[in-house]
Amino acid sequence: MFTSDIREQEILDYFKAILGVERVLTDRESLQQAGSDHTEDLVFLPEIVLQAQTTEEVSRILAYCNEHRLVITPRGAGTGLSGGCLPVQGSIVLDMRRMNQILEIDSENFQVTVEPGVITEVLQNAVQEHGLFYPVDPASKGSCFIGGNVAENSGGARALKYGVVKDYVLNLEIVLPDGSVMWTGANTLKNATGYNLTQLIVGSEGTLAVITKIVLKLLPQPTKDLLILVPFYSAEEACRAVNKVFLAGYDPSALEFMERDAILAAQKFIDDYSIPVPEEIQAHLLIEVNGNEETYLMQEIEGIVQVLEQFNTGEVLFADNQNDKDKLWRLRRVTGEAAKGSSVYKEEDTVVPRAKLPQLLAKVKALGKEYGFDSICYGHAGDGNLHVNIVKNNMPEDAWHNELPKAIRELFLYTKSLGGTLSGEHGIGYVQKQYMDIAFSAVALELMRQIKKVFDPNDILNPGKILPG
Ligand code: LAC
Ligand code: ZN
Repeated sequence: MFTSDIREQEILDYFKAILGVERVLTDRESLQQAGSDHTEDLVFLPEIVLQAQTTEEVSRILAYCNEHRLVITPRGAGTGLSGGCLPVQGSIVLDMRRMNQILEIDSENFQVTVEPGVITEVLQNAVQEHGLFYPVDPASKGSCFIGGNVAENSGGARALKYGVVKDYVLNLEIVLPDGSVMWTGANTLKNATGYNLTQLIVGSEGTLAVITKIVLKLLPQPTKDLLILVPFYSAEEACRAVNKVFLAGYDPSALEFMERDAILAAQKFIDDYSIPVPEEIQAHLLIEVNGNEETYLMQEIEGIVQVLEQFNTGEVLFADNQNDKDKLWRLRRVTGEAAKGSSVYKEEDTVVPRAKLPQLLAKVKALGKEYGFDSICYGHAGDGNLHVNIVKNNMPEDAWHNELPKAIRELFLYTKSLGGTLSGEHGIGYVQKQYMDIAFSAVALELMRQIKKVFDPNDILNPGKILPG
């Protein structure tokens, strides 16, 4: 129920006057859709869903919510994995799907200006037609929105070579909770002008402002890539091999890790078993190199294979045509969804300095033995980002609810002791905030609370996220 003293009908009438009846939704299906994302099985039903189409509309909506102390939660495509867009206090969801225009592709300056509701892959394909490259490549690129990517500071498979969303955001148009509209920076590759508000908004998970326009830096499109799949007889050894590739001087554009159970689940998920997984194989590394010179790339991939063959590996699979490459990437992209297909689960997004990855994997497995949970691990080994899917399977309810959080806390403490942190690319959102005291001191958390207050003194914008307590 609305905590405000004005009646729901008045609120609805106001929004209908701004947006028209068809963009103010209260039907069961819309509320249900806006009440969940890809995080576990969590559902928090809102009472109203608003679909804004312009910055001006967003401004008027927020100003009204602020004036009447109505909680509002912005939402992209709902592919998030930490509950960042869940309306945990009900009330209003601000659905950004209709702000989906690519406003300008500036080929001269290698930049694009987009609205937040553009699907990431649509954006990538649009700039590619101009020979330009937006390299940030989350597994959900076919359905996630660029606005959600900015809000969560997403990563993906190519982060090890190209960086994550924050490395491409030059400037943002945002709407503050009081309805003010402002730009955070400039459309320049360098900017040493004042506090870096752009980067404060990136990764702020819709808690400080609503993003309405995004200016992204682009690169020239590389024309060639090569892809291999390397099986290992030991998962820990696969993780040890990762860093050796970099120490040998190679610069892959992707270096992904998949445990045996991860690749098996992915094959089952898409019902395609054409890539053999021999019995003793415990993990795979999927490795891509890209550039423009085929001969150079061949040398690079052969060099990488030589490095890996110092370990106990199975037969390397070269994907030598586009069809095979697509098949391997599809397998990798569905892994997350596949791994959680058969059971209730929790997904962790641990990240450590790359060379510490074998220790992290060993700890996950040791904790699993100690606390009695199964895990399916996969992720972006090349940048030290390990996704840990903890599957409930036969774990008793009591252990799942009361013991598992202790195990996760131990895992995060260990991750932190390795120089790592709670989340590499999924964000803190709703489900990880209880562990923020591990990542930050009380002083740092208090500073964050004050920042939230400066932007949103009435705590109307996506409350109950990121900060514990
Ligand atoms: C992936 C998502 C879950 O890497 O981040 O598949
Ligand atoms: Zn990932």
